[in-house]
Amino acid sequence: MKARAKIIGTGGYLPDTIRTNDEISEMVDTSDNWIYERTGIKSRRIASAEESAASMAEIAAKEAIEVAGIDAGEIDLIVVATGTPDRVYPSTACMLQHRLDIRDCVSFDVQAACSGSVFALSIADQYIRTGAADKVLVVGAEICSRIVDWSDRSTCILFGDGAGAVILEATEEPGILSTHIHSDGGYEELLYCPNPQVAKESVKDQPGFIQMRGNEVFKMAVNTLGRIVDETLAANGLEKTDVDWLVPHQANTRIIAATAKKLRLSMDQVIMTLENQGNTSSASVLLALNEGIRDGRIQRGQIILLEAFGAGFTWGSALIKY
Ligand code: COA
Repeated sequence: MKARAKIIGTGGYLPDTIRTNDEISEMVDTSDNWIYERTGIKSRRIASAEESAASMAEIAAKEAIEVAGIDAGEIDLIVVATGTPDRVYPSTACMLQHRLDIRDCVSFDVQAACSGSVFALSIADQYIRTGAADKVLVVGAEICSRIVDWSDRSTCILFGDGAGAVILEATEEPGILSTHIHSDGGYEELLYCPNPQVAKESVKDQPGFIQMRGNEVFKMAVNTLGRIVDETLAANGLEKTDVDWLVPHQANTRIIAATAKKLRLSMDQVIMTLENQGNTSSASVLLALNEGIRDGRIQRGQIILLEAFGAGFTWGSALIKY
């Protein structure tokens, strides 16, 4: 029987500090009303000066390991999705491996912006299906607050910090039914974050903050996520009514509502964390998955559709029988 990837534990971490829309209104020309109406966000968490993607990943990972009831030493692959690593190298995954006191396993990062955790899940699924790994830790960890220009009202209202984690184990029954990941590098200018220290001369003087043409990103996200829903269901011979839960990337309530409508799901069947977390980039899908599972909404045997869209553009989905 083919090995398939089953979720055996999830975890999450959010920093203590809450930054509300009202607080942002004191920093830039905006209002709680404007932000909530356009995005669905009321507050987001901000990491402390002592925290890093690796430190947040550690807390989320340890929770997932505990819930899974395994020993960290049993993990043979760690994939961390992050766009905000403390160091260019070693990878955040290697730093996490050290923090978990695992002496020998494969650890590497995935950079796919907000789609990172879905890309990481897809990689984990391939490793398990081929028998190359038996227990995999997937983490999405982001400190978006450090790459946001807090004087730019078009971006600073959107993002937050946090980490989500999941442990996958090889079993005979799915598990992950399928994953679908895509990239189109032609949209670089609509959403990017420069790396001034290593950038080529012509773009070296750009500040290292998120640059976004929000309205164009919005339209692309809605269209692309609609297509990925069709692709995912068709690949599994399933109907829209077979999906019990949508666990979307948390970027904007209106983008999520459009995907839910496409699936003919009510918003009660969508795990929403956006209101009090904002967009935590590659952490958001795993944080939402953790919340839906831990509060008992997502039940064993149910079908859940994870989806994400991010800079690149990158986009993807994972259909899971929990
Ligand atoms: N407060 C008040 N006004 C604001 C504002 C803010 N925080 N940000 C922008 N505005 C203004 C603009 O200056 C513009 O004013 P103008 O009409 O006088 O020029 C007006 O609001 C409309 O701007 P626009 O960018 O068209 O707004 P929008 O309805 O598209 O909403 C976003 C902006 C960013 C909320 C929305 O485009 C969005 O969520 N896009 C997707 C972003 C995303 O998800 N990125 C991550 C992808 S993973």
